[in-house]
Amino acid sequence: MAKNREVVDKFGKRHTFSEGMEGVVATSSEICFINGAEGRLFYRGIPIEDLAENSTFEETSYFLLYGELPTQKELHDFDTRLKKYRAIPDPVLEILKQMPRKANTMQILRTVVSLMGLYEEKSDEHSVSETSREAEKLIAVFPTIVAAIQRLREGKEPISPDKSLGHAANLIYMVNGEKPDAYAARVLDVCLILHAEHGFNASTFTSRVVISTLTDVHSAITAAIGSLRGPLHGGANEGVMHLLNEIGSLEAVDEVIRLKLKTKAKIMGFGHRVYKVLDPRAKILSQYSERLAEITGKQKYYAMSKKIEEIMENEVGDRGIYPNVDFFSASVYHYLGFNLEIYTPIFAVSRISGWAAHVMEQLRENRLFRPSSVYLGDIDRTYPKISDR
Ligand SMILES: CC(C)(COP(=O)(O)OP(=O)(O)OC[C@H]1O[C@@H](n2cnc3c(N)ncnc32)[C@H](O)[C@@H]1OP(=O)(O)O)[C@@H](O)C(=O)NCCC(=O)NCCS
Repeated sequence: MAKNREVVDKFGKRHTFSEGMEGVVATSSEICFINGAEGRLFYRGIPIEDLAENSTFEETSYFLLYGELPTQKELHDFDTRLKKYRAIPDPVLEILKQMPRKANTMQILRTVVSLMGLYEEKSDEHSVSETSREAEKLIAVFPTIVAAIQRLREGKEPISPDKSLGHAANLIYMVNGEKPDAYAARVLDVCLILHAEHGFNASTFTSRVVISTLTDVHSAITAAIGSLRGPLHGGANEGVMHLLNEIGSLEAVDEVIRLKLKTKAKIMGFGHRVYKVLDPRAKILSQYSERLAEITGKQKYYAMSKKIEEIMENEVGDRGIYPNVDFFSASVYHYLGFNLEIYTPIFAVSRISGWAAHVMEQLRENRLFRPSSVYLGDIDRTYPKISDR
């Protein structure tokens, strides 16, 4: 239910607006449809469950960018281009190596993407071909940047991309230094598909607002990364892991969660502006988390997550607060061996496809975003001299 607020301005005029722009239609789009009441999600008309079952991140990215599923040849060519663009340009890598190792990983990613914009000679050209070329380059290079950030953080040398590996498998390889087994690679591939697009969320809206000024693609994506970083958005997956670590054991779940609810603290990974039932992505990720717990023989994080889900359903389920995409992605990333610091950057590795698709859609029929607000401040104040203040 939208939180409508009613205010009277200084001229006595009454205004009603939706806080946080909930339910406000900002423009039209053909990229994503979400049925929040029934927990359904579609990328360009195809249910997310079908994409998670049958597609790859590469194919889904092509679909999001270009509007149709690729033929075999189109997919092969797209994949070849992505592999070609995977490496971080040398001067950028040199600067990345100088960045503070312990700085927030999303801040580093944001800075590196901004930096990469300096090497795009046609960045002010808004043709479809140039925009899609830059978009593909960003999709290709994100995993390499994220893996390099993590390796440098651990005092290790970054690993160069391996062309024999798919997008997801290559990310695991560049982080861990070992080629993953087929199942681990497939799980990450599905995670990337599930996180790739989600309508007018804060970071996507940010990217569209920024590109609507006809600035460069890198500015729009840099801003989107900054937006995704926040704990109310993509940063929630790290919040979930902090919560699981804070709770520490299955036995402690009940007490900690109930205490948090009593003190009105938000439980990370629960609740959603659009979904008022279980997020369909959480449903899929829950199954992968369960399977990974079995394979690794480490039940703790999955078991704790299920217990939290059960308590939350009993306590706040009737208020439409259910697990969102971030809740089970935390335990899945844990089982895949990723460090907590790159959970949100991995979200960005995926969401870059959605952002890029929206940037391209916005540019096709652009109109500058320029909403308004109700002014509630003073009017016609006298300007006091600094000596009189
Ligand atoms: C995602 C989120 C920002 C959407 O929030 P929203 O539509 O703005 O809803 P609000 O934050 O206004 O919350 C509405 C009510 O539900 C409660 N609520 C929402 N999410 C909650 C959560 N995760 N845990 C406990 N209570 C929650 C709020 O406390 C509020 O209660 P109140 O009406 O008594 O004040 C919110 O659910 C949240 O902060 N979740 C945790 C962070 C998270 O997982 N983000 C990832 C989203 S994919």
